[in-house]
Amino acid sequence: MIPDKAPEDDVFHGAEEMRRGAHVPTFDKFKELYMQSIEDPDKFWGDMAKDFFWKTKHTGRFLDYNFDTTKGDIFIKCMEGASTNICYNVLDRNVQDRKLGDKVAFYWEGNEPGDELTVTYRELLTSVCRFANVLKSQGVKKGDRVAIYMPMVVELVVAMLACARIGAVHSIVFAGFSAESLCDRIVDSQCSLLITADGFYRGDKLINLKLLADEALQKCTDKGFSLERCIVLKHLSKEAQEISLKSPPAKRPCPDLQVPWNPQVDKCWHALMADSSDECEPEWCASEDPLFILYTSGSTGKPKGVLHTVSGYMLYTAATFKLVFDHRPDDIYWCTADIGWITGHSYITYGPLANGATSVLFEGLPTYPDVSRIWEIVDKYHVSKFYTAPTAIRMLMKYGSEPVQKYKRDSLKVLGTVGEPINPEAWHWYFTVVGDGRCPIVDTFWQTETGGHVMTPLPAATPMKPGSATFPFFGVVPAILNESGEELAGTSEGYLVFKQPWPGVMRTVYGNHARFESTYFKKFPGYYVTGDGCRRDKDGYYWITGRIDDMLNVSGHLLSTAEVESALVGHEAVAEAAVVGRPHPVKGESLYCFVTLRDGVKYNRTLEAQLKKQVREKIGAIATPDFIQDAPALPKTRSGKIMRRVLRKIAGGERDLGDISTLADSSVVEQLFQNRCGAGE
Ligand code: WT7
Repeated sequence: MIPDKAPEDDVFHGAEEMRRGAHVPTFDKFKELYMQSIEDPDKFWGDMAKDFFWKTKHTGRFLDYNFDTTKGDIFIKCMEGASTNICYNVLDRNVQDRKLGDKVAFYWEGNEPGDELTVTYRELLTSVCRFANVLKSQGVKKGDRVAIYMPMVVELVVAMLACARIGAVHSIVFAGFSAESLCDRIVDSQCSLLITADGFYRGDKLINLKLLADEALQKCTDKGFSLERCIVLKHLSKEAQEISLKSPPAKRPCPDLQVPWNPQVDKCWHALMADSSDECEPEWCASEDPLFILYTSGSTGKPKGVLHTVSGYMLYTAATFKLVFDHRPDDIYWCTADIGWITGHSYITYGPLANGATSVLFEGLPTYPDVSRIWEIVDKYHVSKFYTAPTAIRMLMKYGSEPVQKYKRDSLKVLGTVGEPINPEAWHWYFTVVGDGRCPIVDTFWQTETGGHVMTPLPAATPMKPGSATFPFFGVVPAILNESGEELAGTSEGYLVFKQPWPGVMRTVYGNHARFESTYFKKFPGYYVTGDGCRRDKDGYYWITGRIDDMLNVSGHLLSTAEVESALVGHEAVAEAAVVGRPHPVKGESLYCFVTLRDGVKYNRTLEAQLKKQVREKIGAIATPDFIQDAPALPKTRSGKIMRRVLRKIAGGERDLGDISTLADSSVVEQLFQNRCGAGE
């Protein structure tokens, strides 16, 4: 299916009809606006800011910053002096000023076909106000951190927006994370309240979420931190069906659901809501007040609490959503990510709601009850803009075109991808089979840290090349540096960095500004360092080549090798561990772990299962090792540094090891080669 051309020369132009009425209709228009956004950011963003309500206007420069550690502390400030409320802007303003009260905000599609709910902007506003009052009644105040550990239900959006309304800082923890991960995040940001649910289904697997939440709170207590208030949404319990928002969904029966209840700590979401008023004046926040914390893997192993603030994040997610998906009022938009990741924060909650968009909110899996589910939903709601990850595309591609072509998909207009580089084969399948060759693909490169898209095509304007995130978004100035920190011009490859901030960039690592500075600004003073490699081709297109630090990208999720290694070494049988990525046809990378056991311990299947369980329990199912190899010794340099480059080659079965003259003992390599796992895969 891939044309016989170098990807660089494989150029696609959006259909003419895309250009009609597009926000940015041509490449020339893109270039003109881009120059304006760089030369006069105050004017460019000032125009965008006119769409929002400001309680007080900003004074001074639109963006003020220092990116150079040699000149003082790193800081980024956007619209200082202004005050606003993001919840007010994404809800009240839509209901009152833009008369969108009856417009659907979300079509919720549950895990089980037939479970569904429609929520309008007015209904969402009412629920958010009620829940904001609930939070206040539980003693939550402006600036307090609230942990949220919930499945993909409308109430998750309600919980986050209610925090934003009263100026509390939400810290959402993906519901696939383990109790231990939840505990670490609660303790790190000193949360005063936890919001969770009884349980949920992922496909046919029941997750007893409340049990995990309780386990996390117990671990917090063991670490000397006590969190004494927990609000529990009854999502699966029998009561849920009696108190649901509208039509009681036909839920799967769940005889195995366990909901332990501690009356001192646990409060029922629905009972609190029933007693709560639906009027709640928003808290006016300063531009740089914190909005949320979201943890992302760090190369030292300890996750970093990425902090985003109110005004810049609001403007940036709104602008990127509007322009990158070329949003139109009658669109039905669907992003398949989980709100527990940044993609869900920016492009399920804040960006779409700021634009008054109608979205699908999907609780389930692309493969349940069968591999047509996604396309069935696309037709059911007439989805026009669809956003997913390359790993999902590759997984569905395995089943061929028949499950896709069973459905019409004629409502689709723009397709998007995010999370990792998309390989040309998956790109072509997405373009020709899913989009019937009609829909531009926006390959959006960004990070938890960037808040929103930073390198991306605009669907009507940018000629696409499969696998390239193309060009920077407005206000973003990329550069490619070599190892000595020199900017490379023209065709080149090196470190991808950014030279100046855009409104949505992170402001700090929560509670650890020094770590923020050392992670992103120390290597090349004056630049924000992404941690990704990048190539620029003869036409100026940017191609992200993947992480160049000790991070792995498994199914679009970043994992730190150090974090997995520390989980493995936490097992009594393991003396040393080294984790590398091995290319995987669907997941992008899989986790390949080398473990050196303590003296006298024998490697066997039982131990292997224990080690996998250990990692799952410490981090979560996404970090489960794919391969574990018993490594009596690891390849090390004479100074004792593990040579990961060599381990990556062994894991991938590549014999050509390059220069290994610095190895202390080269016989180790041959031995590891002979006992490789999964040689046939
Ligand atoms: C890392 C950030 C942004 C939401 C999802 C991941 C990789 C992301 C792309 C893309 C190539 C990509 C990078 C980046 N990445 N999108 N379109 N092309 N690589 O957020 O967990 O913070 O991960 O994902 O390596 O640094 P995240």
